[in-house]
Amino acid sequence: MIYFDNSATTKPYKEVLDTFVTVNEQFYANPASIHEAGTDANILLDRARNQIAQIFHTDERCVIFTAGGTESNNLAIFGISKANTHKGKHILTTDIEHASVLEAYKSLEKEGFEVEYLHVDNSGVISLEELKAKIRKDTVLVSMMHVNNEIGSIQPIEEAAQIIHANSRATFHVDAVQSFGKLPIHFNGDNGPDIITISGHKIHALKGTGIIVFRQKMNINPLILGGGQEFGIRSGTVAVPQAVALAKAARIAIENLNAAKVRYRNWHKGLIQFLSKFGDLIHILSTNSGVGHIVSFSVKDLKGEILINALQDRGIIVSTSSACSSKQKKTSHVVTALNVDPKYKNGVIRLSFGAFNTDEEIERFKTEFTYVMKELKGVNL
Ligand SMILES: Cc1ncc(COP(=O)(O)O)c(C=O)c1O
Repeated sequence: MIYFDNSATTKPYKEVLDTFVTVNEQFYANPASIHEAGTDANILLDRARNQIAQIFHTDERCVIFTAGGTESNNLAIFGISKANTHKGKHILTTDIEHASVLEAYKSLEKEGFEVEYLHVDNSGVISLEELKAKIRKDTVLVSMMHVNNEIGSIQPIEEAAQIIHANSRATFHVDAVQSFGKLPIHFNGDNGPDIITISGHKIHALKGTGIIVFRQKMNINPLILGGGQEFGIRSGTVAVPQAVALAKAARIAIENLNAAKVRYRNWHKGLIQFLSKFGDLIHILSTNSGVGHIVSFSVKDLKGEILINALQDRGIIVSTSSACSSKQKKTSHVVTALNVDPKYKNGVIRLSFGAFNTDEEIERFKTEFTYVMKELKGVNL
């Protein structure tokens, strides 16, 4: 089986699983306990936190372990907007965010916040002019994904940060769930984000793990109240094995970043060339300016599920544009935002690569896809 659905989730690295098991077996004490076993668990937790802090050149107290990208995004959005109502209630995001951002914004809108959305062009990128026009003195939060999970478009984070910081006191939250380990992402003073959110299971760590990282200490309302763990920002006994495993996966991701970027870029380029041979039967959604590990396209007048099943029968696993929208059987909000011709709207397919994919698998895809297109569409390449 060839697995090309790494943007939905990844297979954990063996080293990460080994770390998880070892820490569970040997350091299962509560890191908040004052006995020696607790202290030992806490040392491991501190080390994991320190490793993440070093990756982002930030203070250890600015790294909070959570239960995933969704929780990290919710914490950033509710936590910052509610802690800053004295500065304003205007918040900004984009049309193509993940549901964990969009639903949080919708909920805040019902509570009386003024929400505005930035639109994207046909390649899924925001307009800096529109950002300039919409940012205000009373904007308290801007949330923007670095890489889109459905089409792989990359937002101009640095330029957006400059505009946001020059024109408002807003906190700039970047959802880096799909970019961490694939593209560099850092805090860079006023030229970068103030908050970065990450998910473990997209980088070969465990599901149900995530991180929120702050550029500097800031006022944030916690989502989860209790014993005051994680500097009072995220209560609950900290899952030390998960945190240590996630720090390991994050270090591997950073070590491999440059090589991964080149590998994915080459595959992306080769596949776009290959798909272009089918002419107007195929509409490519992920452009060359997007990230390398996501290739998204649509076959004219063909349902996505039909293509997915046909490829699955031939041992290849791909998905529709996102795991969330595939179950809901409706055109995704991202595809809608791109103004795609209706003929191509129902057949969006996403291939997303991870650390375990190989050159041979990409070649196999080309062979099997050619076969499937002959069967379903009668095309002879
Ligand atoms: C861009 C983006 N943000 C957030 C999330 C949510 O992360 P998690 O599945 O860890 O809750 C996802 C997951 O697909 C995502 O792609």
